[in-house]
Amino acid sequence: MNKVFLLAFVTLIGLPTFSFTQLKNEPNLRANLEAGGVDFCPKPQYRSDKWMNTFLAGIQSQKYDSTMLQFLQDQIPTDSHVFSTEQILSIFSQITFDSSRIQALTLLNPYIISLTPQNIVNILIKYPFESSKLTALNLIANTLSDVSDASKKLIVDCFTFDSNKSDALKILNAISPRNCIYGTITEKVAAFVIDISGSMEYTFKANGETISRLAFVKSQLTKTIAEQLKSYQKFNIIIFGNSASQWKTDYVDASPENVQAAIAYINKLTTNGATNISSGLDLAFNTKQALKAIYLLSDGVPNSGVQTVDGIKKYLTEKNASRTEKVVVNTISFIMGGVEKQNERDLSFQFLNTIADVTNGSFKGISG
Ligand SMILES: *[C@@H]1O[C@H](CO)[C@@H](O)[C@H](O)[C@H]1NC(C)=O
Ligand SMILES: *[C@@H]1O[C@H](CO)[C@@H](O)[C@H](O)[C@H]1NC(C)=O
Ligand SMILES: *[C@@H]1O[C@H](CO)[C@@H](O)[C@H](O)[C@H]1NC(C)=O
Ligand SMILES: *[C@@H]1O[C@H](CO)[C@@H](O)[C@H](O)[C@H]1NC(C)=O
Repeated sequence: MNKVFLLAFVTLIGLPTFSFTQLKNEPNLRANLEAGGVDFCPKPQYRSDKWMNTFLAGIQSQKYDSTMLQFLQDQIPTDSHVFSTEQILSIFSQITFDSSRIQALTLLNPYIISLTPQNIVNILIKYPFESSKLTALNLIANTLSDVSDASKKLIVDCFTFDSNKSDALKILNAISPRNCIYGTITEKVAAFVIDISGSMEYTFKANGETISRLAFVKSQLTKTIAEQLKSYQKFNIIIFGNSASQWKTDYVDASPENVQAAIAYINKLTTNGATNISSGLDLAFNTKQALKAIYLLSDGVPNSGVQTVDGIKKYLTEKNASRTEKVVVNTISFIMGGVEKQNERDLSFQFLNTIADVTNGSFKGISG
């Protein structure tokens, strides 16, 4: 690891209670972080051209901004895939007013994962007024994939007046970066459910370094928990292979001590067994806490527990009916590297996308 990267990493960790040196007793994790796992962001599958074309035609057919915004609000959740920058810009090109573009960006925001500094600039320049540019930056700043000074400068330079530039820099200096696997965790109670089946040992290249799927996911989950969770949030970590087990018997506060303990637990995870996704979901749902969101990551289709698309729909309907608070299940199909054939990758995407669709979650299909 070169020095510049080390510095960037230390700055990235916003929490005073967690610093790189605290990882020194965790050589494996540190090795993973050094293996390029941290700043590598694999691209997800975006919404299809077919979906986008119908959507854009629908926007065009709206006479008023108010009906157009209602249309966006109704239609955006009908697909769980994330949006690319090009797709966001194609939506903006159909919207005339700054204020409507701000509302559109608010609706799109949960389905945006990671934007390069240039992507952010391309979005901001669509807002002619400095005030809406600042509002837009506030909405999407945490999607910034690269928080270096150079990238901040590129963004700040979109603003004309010194006072606006300094406000923009303040926004950029205060962000907790959105994680390219987990996004932004805002829910009061959330579960991270991770596949540790044998295939998670397959490796891929991240920034030229070879890293296993599990090692990469461990580094991203560590980053997410350390950088984003606030002490008023509750969380738990659940793993599944043949069957499932959990870090804590119930959700705990993201206090500095618990965050440290969670990182130590993540660091020790190794692969084991088959893919029993529903066993992991069972444990996540099994709480009296007001669970809001599950973040489910897997690299396959289940070969144990509930195994069919219809079966998982029925399973989720039952879980939904049994809870007063609705639980959003955000899913990630993570199939980097490995030997899976295209049809196996497609099946995993389909299975996990169904889970997100049924629960109004977002879906990221990552394969490469
Ligand atoms: C941008 O800067 C101008 C000039 O200093 C100032 O009048 C305006 O209020 C600023 N806009 C915002 C949204 O802060
Ligand atoms: C899969 O998990 C379920 C619990 O959800 C369990 O009943 C079943 O035995 C597990 N399958 C295997 C092969 O262990
Ligand atoms: C979940 O329950 C709510 C009512 O509480 C219902 O409106 C919704 O359609 C249900 N969703 C599923 C997937 O069953
Ligand atoms: C999902 O979102 C749609 C549109 O926003 C809403 O009508 C539906 O009730 C939601 N379903 C669940 C399970 O929350």
